[in-house]
Amino acid sequence: MKINFEEVLKKIEQLVKENKPDLLKQICQTLKEEVYHYDWVGFYSLKDGGLELGPYVGKPTDHTHIAIGKGVCGQVAESGKTRVVQDVSLEDNYIACSIDVQSEIVVPVLKNGIFVAELDIDSHSPAPFTQSDTDFLEKVCEMISTKF
Ligand code: SME
Repeated sequence: MKINFEEVLKKIEQLVKENKPDLLKQICQTLKEEVYHYDWVGFYSLKDGGLELGPYVGKPTDHTHIAIGKGVCGQVAESGKTRVVQDVSLEDNYIACSIDVQSEIVVPVLKNGIFVAELDIDSHSPAPFTQSDTDFLEKVCEMISTKF
């Protein structure tokens, strides 16, 4: 299925402009609704030297706190670089949230080049992510860096 990322980006731009108190949750909802291969969408932010789960949509997760360096999320907090994992079963440093998850993308939110939060997306599809997902999600994270 072809996704019109530009259209989705416009919707998110509009939400950012409206700047409602639940903006981050609205963004999670929009991403999950508009992109068929996004099944769990959530934000983790830096708090007390670790990652703390913020707004999300999808099944509740036990992993509300993640140490820096642990799992894909913790690695992105350390490197400040997007990680795409097309097959989570091949990943050694991985924290499983649900047996349905086959792949994952984690995109950092940087404020003045410094890591402050990240957008974590799990997918039930095998290897669904392309460079378009990365480019699109990095733009989304740029748009909301001041919200953390
Ligand atoms: N899979 C992540 C943990 C977070 S859950 O996907 C919501 C990881 O390996 O860091």
